Amino acid sequence: MKIAVLPGDGIGPEVTREALRVLKALDLPGLTLFDGDVGGMAYKRHGHPLPDETLTMAREADAVLFGAVGDPDCDGLERHLRPEQAILGLRKELDLFANLRPAKVFKGLEHLSPLQPEIAGQLDMMIVRELTGDVYFGEKGERVANDGSREGWDMMSYCETEVRRIAQVAFRTARGGDDKLRVTSVDKANVLETSQVWRDAVKDAAVAHPDIDLSHMYVDNAAMQIISNPGGFGVILTGNLFGDILSDLASAAVGSIGLLASASMGERQTAHGTFGLYEPIHGSAPDIAGEGKANPMAMILSAAMMLRHSFGLEAEATRIEVAVEAALSDGIRGGDLGGSHGTQAIGDAVLERL
Ligand code: NAD
Ligand code: IPM
Ligand code: MN
Repeated sequence: MKIAVLPGDGIGPEVTREALRVLKALDLPGLTLFDGDVGGMAYKRHGHPLPDETLTMAREADAVLFGAVGDPDCDGLERHLRPEQAILGLRKELDLFANLRPAKVFKGLEHLSPLQPEIAGQLDMMIVRELTGDVYFGEKGERVANDGSREGWDMMSYCETEVRRIAQVAFRTARGGDDKLRVTSVDKANVLETSQVWRDAVKDAAVAHPDIDLSHMYVDNAAMQIISNPGGFGVILTGNLFGDILSDLASAAVGSIGLLASASMGERQTAHGTFGLYEPIHGSAPDIAGEGKANPMAMILSAAMMLRHSFGLEAEATRIEVAVEAALSDGIRGGDLGGSHGTQAIGDAVLERL
């Protein structure tokens, strides 16, 4: 079981260290870790945020554990050299089109949410975000506008094939959950042609799944309802940009961006399971990097998702999740939750409860 470990920038290495401690404590036979450079630190060492060597290591692994990329020093670089291109490049090159981002308020942890406890307690959703298309990967550029000012442009598009394959993932995910078979497809079909094709293609894909309770919602309304009525959602199926924004929103409703994990998968099967890349939804948090106070829970939970999806180790994945939940219940809080526990202390708390 080969894992490419790419800690990246800022708090990436800090949270990755804790996830690796948890993984090592499980003492899984046959687990081999390989370290790679990615993001701003890779640019500084090799002149590129996603060196060939790192991409090859990722391709040859059974799963990738990814920290975070992003470095304010690199914001002035040409776009193709910026740290963020590393994660975008990995997703595209490895065809990881399906991004699963679970957001849940655990029983007894309603107090972590800024929402009223009765409302927070209903929050249990899976955001299924398309990850290799949309305005992220369209042509883009800068030109001179008619009035002589600078004009930036980005091409947004989705083709039916891309929409159908991610819709299938959402339907499958709904079927695998313990909730009703509810899928809410989120778009902006009242304004965007991209979204009209999206909506029509989702409806087409749903014909073969008559038992799925499918509804469609505009993204602005969805943002409002995730806060006012989170219990109204089971699986949220959406595009790359809307999924990015709604997942940070959902994390705030859970209580912290440091709690949300993610799995990015395609269709490739390995000898052990489905190939995937696992990362927290947050970034490199340059504002707190180096202070040892980042919350590593999202990264630890991403490692659990890796065990489940890429290695078929359901019991071990659950063991980590139960330990995280227990640590949170016992009052372990990261800096972002207003508590005083540091990264390593949170890791220790999970290890003690494994
Ligand atoms: P961010 O997610 O890095 O941080 C947003 C806020 O949340 C900050 O105040 C930060 O301190 C806090 N935060 C994030 N993770 C935390 C954690 N685990 N524990 C405690 N607090 C945490 O988003 P940003 O500030 O908009 O972006 C910073 C850099 O990260 C940018 O370069 C951005 O492009 C990049 N980024 C990368 C990824 C990724 O690697 N997948 C994801 C998002 C942003
Ligand atoms: C995320 C991040 C990335 C995204 C950036 C860093 C490219 O925000 O993983 O949520 O927008 O997908
Ligand atoms: Mn994001």
